[in-house]
Amino acid sequence: MGIVLRGGTIVTDTDCYHADIRIQGEVIATIGSQVAHEDDTVLPAEGYYIFPGGIDAHTHFDLPVGTMSTADDFASGTRAAILGGTTTVIDYATQFKGETLKQGLANWHQRASGNCYTDYGFHMAITDWNEHVSREMPWLSQEAGVTSVKLYMAYKNIMQVDDSALFQVLERSRNCGILTCVHCENGDIVDNLTRQLRQQGKTAPAYHPLSRPPRVEQEAVNRLMVLAELADAPVFVVHLSCREAMETVAQAKARGVKVFAETCPQYLVLEDSVYQDPTFSCAKYVMSPPLRAKENQAYLWNGLKTGILDTVATDHCSFNFRGQKDLGREDFSKIPNGAPGVEHRLGLLYTYGVQAGKLSLTQFVDKMATKPAKLFGIYPQKGTIAPGSHADLVLWDENRRFTIGAASHAHNVDYSPYEGIEQQGQSIHVFLRGRQVVRNGVVCVESPQGQYLFRKQFPQDKA
Ligand code: URP
Ligand code: ZN
Ligand code: ZN
Repeated sequence: MGIVLRGGTIVTDTDCYHADIRIQGEVIATIGSQVAHEDDTVLPAEGYYIFPGGIDAHTHFDLPVGTMSTADDFASGTRAAILGGTTTVIDYATQFKGETLKQGLANWHQRASGNCYTDYGFHMAITDWNEHVSREMPWLSQEAGVTSVKLYMAYKNIMQVDDSALFQVLERSRNCGILTCVHCENGDIVDNLTRQLRQQGKTAPAYHPLSRPPRVEQEAVNRLMVLAELADAPVFVVHLSCREAMETVAQAKARGVKVFAETCPQYLVLEDSVYQDPTFSCAKYVMSPPLRAKENQAYLWNGLKTGILDTVATDHCSFNFRGQKDLGREDFSKIPNGAPGVEHRLGLLYTYGVQAGKLSLTQFVDKMATKPAKLFGIYPQKGTIAPGSHADLVLWDENRRFTIGAASHAHNVDYSPYEGIEQQGQSIHVFLRGRQVVRNGVVCVESPQGQYLFRKQFPQDKA
């Protein structure tokens, strides 16, 4: 017995067409007309777009930061994700100082296992590079199914790695089929600018963006491009936020550097005017990189359209305004960095991309599902609608309209950076590996159904 979605408009990264989808077990069995078997359940899908389940390849759930943890854990975070049409997340597991990769990864499996409403994989953030960790890299990619690592060029004395570690990780990752993701901001310069601001008594959150201007991001992107070229290794720039950084990526791509880049809805939709608020309220927007001047948005949208930017992920990293963000009341550099958004990624990209004429429907699908699946080793199982692929499907009503806000969102956090922003279009029914997990906009499974994804290595022909 199968399930047939009848009469919807299927959208992939290349096509948009009317057909029925027959699901059998966890996968798509057939796409066509009159695909139903006698004992199948038929669900009318007329009037809906059917997208492949979204893939958010940049989340931080249950992340310990100092004495606290992010407001969203894997249960609340992935529940919000699935309501918004994201059926897979790739979260940043972290090896903290003194830990092995094995220990770091085991900690993240413990946090996620049995708690995820989406399927999930892990990148491994390396903060303590040494000989032992280097020897663990083949294990990471071949036996643990983690085929991307992350390095931070910022967060001095906490997560930041130096150029030597960065270069060694690039070389080692290339040989192990691992894609190196990098947070690009020059942490030493951020540290200097922060100290200068503090000495001038400029401690309000409004000064956060002045401590990390676009050139700080661009310098780090440029250094990464040169090191990647020297190491002949593929790299992935996370949360790219501004024109300067994007142009640096474009130049590197043009000269053959194997670079891929991600941006996030906050950089496409929000702008730095929020920091003009002289009150502590703008701590809600303390994230790194910070929000940028509005003129950057047109460049980022164009970068998505032309392929300079490859994916859109949220960098969901939520902290409550009360009790967490406000630990930095006297000093913006003590405000935990990050903001929520996993629930609204498809909605924001659809509303301000597709509806606004900046992205086609197929480009929308490519950025939010297909390209992340390809880059992170889960395609064609995920990221497309095709026979044999997982039946991760989103039935999207383009006519639904609502206003985003903390009172109604599913994130477990007391504010939304998108408060009051309109969303056009909404995921109404969502399937995860053939099982309906959202019905009429409501989660309809009693327990989390997500499974760990053992990911394929980054292909050598791209490395
Ligand atoms: O401010 C941010 N982006 N926080 C999350 C951690 C990171 O840098 O990705
Ligand atoms: Zn980062
Ligand atoms: Zn992040």
